Amino acid sequence: MKGKLHPRNDATLNPSGNESIRELIERVDQGRRRFVQGSASATLLASAGGLTLSGVVTSVEATSLARADRGRGVGIGFQPVPADTLPLADQVAVPDGYTAKVLVAWGDPIVRGGADYKPDASNSAAEQLKQFGMHNDGMHFFPFPGWYGNGVLCVNNEYTDEDLLYPDGQVGGGYTLEKCRKSQSAHGVSLLEIGKRRGEWAVLPHSRFGRRITANTPVKIAGPAAGHALLKANEYDITLEATTPTGESTDGLRGHGTINNCANGITPWGTYLTCEENWNGNFGSSSAVPAADSGERGKLYNRYGVTANGNGYLWHTVDERFDIAKNPNEPNMFGWIVEIDPFDPDSKPVKRTALGRFKHESCQYVLDKRNNLAFYMGDDERNEYIYKFVCAEKYRPGLHRFHRSPLDNGTLFVARFTSDTGSVADTFRGQWIPLLPGTSGIDGVALRDNPNFAGADDAEVLAKILIKTRMAADAVGATMMDRPEWTGARPRRDGFDRIELYCTLTNNNRRGSSASPSSNKPDGSTTAGSSRPAVDAANPRANNIYGHIIRWREDGDSVNATGFEWDLFVQCGDSATTKAPAAQYAGNIVDDPDGSCDFGAPDGLWFDPYGRLWVQTDQVGNAQGDWVNIGANCMVCADPETREMRRFLTGPANCEVTGITMAPDGRTLFVGIQHPGEGGTAANPTEFSAWPSSQWATRADGKPLPVGRPRSAVVAITRDDGGIIGA
Ligand code: FEO
Ligand code: CA
Ligand code: CA
Repeated sequence: MKGKLHPRNDATLNPSGNESIRELIERVDQGRRRFVQGSASATLLASAGGLTLSGVVTSVEATSLARADRGRGVGIGFQPVPADTLPLADQVAVPDGYTAKVLVAWGDPIVRGGADYKPDASNSAAEQLKQFGMHNDGMHFFPFPGWYGNGVLCVNNEYTDEDLLYPDGQVGGGYTLEKCRKSQSAHGVSLLEIGKRRGEWAVLPHSRFGRRITANTPVKIAGPAAGHALLKANEYDITLEATTPTGESTDGLRGHGTINNCANGITPWGTYLTCEENWNGNFGSSSAVPAADSGERGKLYNRYGVTANGNGYLWHTVDERFDIAKNPNEPNMFGWIVEIDPFDPDSKPVKRTALGRFKHESCQYVLDKRNNLAFYMGDDERNEYIYKFVCAEKYRPGLHRFHRSPLDNGTLFVARFTSDTGSVADTFRGQWIPLLPGTSGIDGVALRDNPNFAGADDAEVLAKILIKTRMAADAVGATMMDRPEWTGARPRRDGFDRIELYCTLTNNNRRGSSASPSSNKPDGSTTAGSSRPAVDAANPRANNIYGHIIRWREDGDSVNATGFEWDLFVQCGDSATTKAPAAQYAGNIVDDPDGSCDFGAPDGLWFDPYGRLWVQTDQVGNAQGDWVNIGANCMVCADPETREMRRFLTGPANCEVTGITMAPDGRTLFVGIQHPGEGGTAANPTEFSAWPSSQWATRADGKPLPVGRPRSAVVAITRDDGGIIGA
C-alpha cells in the first residue's frame, strides 16, 4: 500500500557526504557473511565469548572486546542501591561509580525531517511518525560490522497512554482520526542510529537508518499459516486522513502494522524480532461480539480476549480496520513474532507464523553445538504457556539469504512441567509437546481430528494450529504458568557448557484462590486468563503476587530435546512481609544482608555476554500496598551459579523498568524506563512524575529536556572508570 504514512524513502545518499546506504548495507552484508562463515565453528564462537546468549550478533560484539577483558567480568562487583520506598524519588538511581543519562525519550526526532518534541503533547500524528514512539520496551543494539562506534538501536514501543499522548487527553474535544493516527504512530518499533559524539552517546536524527514501524506499516506474512483464509482481512487504502476500504480482501500474505510490541529477540543472522503481546486490547466492535459457542470466530475471540471495548482504545470508532464488526479477521493478523532487518530501511517487516500466535512476550534463540537452532517464548497471560520453536534444518551460513527462512520451517512445541524427579537433587522433569497435526490431545484425539483444527489436509491443520496456538496447547495438556514473561539463555563460557534457559513468571493471583479450581479446557473454550488452577510443582504459590523465575536444561544439550530438567531459580518476595504465611510471600532471594535485594514481579530478563543475569521488574510502581518495603520498580543483577542478587537500579515514580541491551565493548548498558508517572491525567500529567526532566536538564548529547509531562525513555549507563558494567 502506498500512502502518506508510508513514504518510499528512496534517497540513496545522505546529505552529510557519508557513505551511501547501499555501500553501508553491502559492507554490513559482507560482515554478516564473514561472521556467519565463522559461526559454523562452535569452538570459534565459544572462544569469541557467546555461543548461545545473543548468538552471532553478540559474538560480533564480543570480538571487539579488548583481549584483556575476555574472560573477566564474571561475578558482581558493584555496591547495591537501596530500595526506593515512599516518598519516591523521581529519578533513576544507579550504584556509586556509575552514571545514567537519557539517550532518547518519547517524541524525540529519530527520522530525517523529524520535528522537535513539544512538551504539551501537541505534536501531530504526522510528526509522531518521525519521532521516537511512546512507552518503550524490549530493545537491541546492532553495531555496524567492524564496530566503529555507531549502530542501529531497535526499540519496541509497546503501547500509548491516551491521556498523556494529546494535550486534551483521549476524549477531551472528542476522539478523532488524528488522535487515532497519533496513537497508531506511537506504537510499533523505533529504529535509530546512535553513536558517540564528543565522548557521549547521541542520537543521529538525520541517519538513513532512522525509521518508524507503526500500526500502519505494510508487512508481509510468511510461514505455514500465510495465505490461510483466517488471515484474509479487508484491504484498505491507509492515509493519515482516512482508512478507505478497497472492496477487496487481502491474500493472507500481507497486512498492515505491528502493535503492542513488548519484548524482543534477535536472530543469528542479525535481524530483530519484535513480539506482539496485548494486541487484542486495541480492537473493539460497533456491534455485539459473537459468543464463544457461536462458531470459529467467537471461540478465537474468547480464547484471545478480543472484546467489544478492548483495553479502552477508541481506534475502532474512527478506523474501521480495528472494528471487528466490519473487519472480523483483522485480529488474526496480530499475535505474531515479527522479523525486522535493522540494516535495510527499505525492507518490510515479516510476520513469522511458524512461531505461533499468542501474546508474545519475548523470543530468545539458542544455537546448539550441532548447529540446531531454536527460539524460546512465553505467552504472557495468567495460566498460559511456555513454547519453543525448533528450526527444521540445521543453521548454515547464508541459509536465510538463499533459501526459505529458518523461521518459516520447523516445529512449535509447548512445555509440560512435571513433578517427576530429575537426575540431580531438587530438579524435576519436563516435556516438550509438538503442536503438530498428528499429536494426540489429552482426550486421545489427534489435533487433525479435533474440530478446532480440522482442515482439507495437514497443511491446513497446521495453519489452524498456528493461528489458534493457545487452543492447541490447551488440547495437549500443557502446563498453565504464572504469566510467562521474558526468556533468556545463559551463555556458554567460563566452564559452563549447558543449554540453560530462564523464564520470568511475574505473578498469578488467580491460582488456588478458588474453592473449586478450574483448568484451561482441552477444547480451547476457556476465556483468556480466567482459569483458577490449583498449585503445581512449577507454580507452587496459591497467591503468587511476587512471582518467580523458573529455569530448565535441555536433555543432551540439544535444542531438539523433547525432555528437560527444571528447577526454580528464585521465588521473589518481601523478606519483611507481615503477610501470612511468610513462606508464601517472603521469597528466597539470596542477598547480603538478607532483604537488601527484595523484589517482585520479575519481567525483563537478559544475560549479558559475561554471564550475569539481569532482571527487571514490573509491579504497580507506586511502592504502596504489597510493595511498601520493596519500593519502586528496579533492576537486579544475579549470578546464575551462586544465585546471589544485588539491586543495580531503581526507577522513577510509577514507572516500569523494561528493555536492556549492551554496547559491544561492555562499557555501556542501555536500559528502558517505561511509563514514568503512570496514572497522571490530561488535567494533571505531572501528578506523579515529571521524569526525565525532573532529574536532568539535558540528554546525554546535551540536547535540552523540556520540562513537562513524564516521558518513557532509554537511559545509557556507564561506569565512571570506564569499566565493564556490573563487574
Ligand atoms: Fe508487555 Fe508481559 O509485558
Ligand atoms: Ca534474602
Ligand atoms: Ca514485559
